[in-house]
Amino acid sequence: MAIDLSYYRKEFPAVEVAVNGYKAAYFDSAGGTQFPKQVIDAMVGYCEQGNANIHGFYLTTIQTDEMLLKAREAMAVLLGAKSRDEIAFGANMTTLNFSLSRALARDMKPGDEIIITDLDHEANRSPWMELEEQGIVVKSVPVRTEDCTLDYDWLRREINPRVRVVAVGYASNAVGTVNDLETVIKLAKSVGATTVVDAVHYAAHGPIDVQSLGCDFLLCSAYKFFGPHIGVLYGKTEAFECLKTYKVRPQSPNPPNKIETGTLNHEGIAGSIEAVNFIAGLGDVVLGDDGQEHNLRDRVVAGYRALEEYERPLFRRLVDGLRGIDGVTLYGLPWNGSRTPTVAFTVDGVHASDVARHLGDVGVFVMCGDFYATKLIEVLDLVERGGVIRAGLAPYNTVEEVDRLLAAVEEIASR
Ligand SMILES: Cc1ncc(COP(=O)(O)O)c(C=O)c1O
Repeated sequence: MAIDLSYYRKEFPAVEVAVNGYKAAYFDSAGGTQFPKQVIDAMVGYCEQGNANIHGFYLTTIQTDEMLLKAREAMAVLLGAKSRDEIAFGANMTTLNFSLSRALARDMKPGDEIIITDLDHEANRSPWMELEEQGIVVKSVPVRTEDCTLDYDWLRREINPRVRVVAVGYASNAVGTVNDLETVIKLAKSVGATTVVDAVHYAAHGPIDVQSLGCDFLLCSAYKFFGPHIGVLYGKTEAFECLKTYKVRPQSPNPPNKIETGTLNHEGIAGSIEAVNFIAGLGDVVLGDDGQEHNLRDRVVAGYRALEEYERPLFRRLVDGLRGIDGVTLYGLPWNGSRTPTVAFTVDGVHASDVARHLGDVGVFVMCGDFYATKLIEVLDLVERGGVIRAGLAPYNTVEEVDRLLAAVEEIASR
C-alpha cells in the first residue's frame, strides 16, 4: 500500500486557493514548493519577536546570532555536512554561484578550462561562461536527446589536467534526470578539478550526503524544499578555507561568513530551520513508533524516503496517463528511471503557453517554457514551440489532482 501523507496536505494553507471555482492543484513544485504552516509560523515568529542585526549585546541581536547558528546546523544535517561552518546563506542559488565562480576564478589563468553541462539550469552555466572574458575555456557536456541524460563518454574524453572546475547539476529542473554524480566527481577528482554541484532541483526529492558525494561545493535553495526564498551554499572546509571571496573589509575572512556579503534574510533563514524539521516530520511517518530515538539526520533521510514512496506511484499515474493521450510527447527517462517526479511534455500543434494557460484556467498550475534550462530546450529544438510544459509532484498533490491534470491535457489535445 502507498504511504499516506494526507495529514500533511492540511499543513499547507495554499491548498485552499481557488480559481474560477476550481481548487488550486500545484504542479509547479520545481518552480517552488508551497509553505507548510510551521515554516510560515517561524518566519512570522522571527518578525514578531524583534528584528535585529548580528553580533550585538542586547536580547534580540543575541537571539538572531543563535538562530543563525541553529539554521546552519539544520542545513548541515540536511546536506550531511561535517560542520555548520561549511554552510553559508545568500539571496538565492544564482547569486551565491556568481560569488563562488568569481572567487574560484581568482586562482585561474587564460587557457584553464571549466566544464559545465547542456542539461543544467543557467544558474550553473552562465556564472562559468562569464569567465570566458578572462580567457578561460568553457566546455559543455552534451545531452543525449533520446533520454535527456548526459554523455559521460564525452566527459571521459575531454577531462584533462587543464580542467579546474566541473560544474554539474544533481538533477534537471526541466526533465527530472538525476545525473551520475559518482562518475562525474570521480573524473573531476582524477585531474584535481574543483566540483560544484547544483542540487536545487534534487533537494526537493532526494537525500543529499555531501561527504559521500565528495564534492567541494554544493548549492540549493530552500524555496524548492518547503522553505523560504533563500540560497544555501555548502563548502567543504578545505575548499572553503582557500576560497578568495570578494568581500567588504570588516567581513570575516573565514568560512562561512567570508562569502556572505551584506545582511542576510533573517526571517527566511528562521523559516528554513522549520523546512528541515518538516522533512524530518515526514520521516517519522516511515520510522513509525518503534520506540527508538532517531536523530535529525536519520529522520531527514527517512523523510525523503516518505516523499519518494508517496510521489512515485502518483508519478507513474501521471506519466502513464500522459503517454496514453494522442498527440502528447514526453521527454526524458521512463517514470522509474534515475529521475525525480518532474515530467516535461509537449502537445502536438499547440504552443506550450496555450496548454499552460488552459490548465491554469481550470486550477491546474503548471509552468511552461525553458525554466532557464535554456540550452536543453535549444538542443531539443523546442524553442519555436514555446519549450515544454512541466509538471512536478510534491507531498500535497493527490490522485484526484493528477486525474484533473490528465483530463485537462486530454481536452486541449483533442481540440
Ligand atoms: C536546477 C536549478 N538550479 C538553479 C536554480 C536557480 O535557483 P535560485 O532561484 O535560487 O537562484 C533553479 C531555479 O529554478 C533550478 O531549478
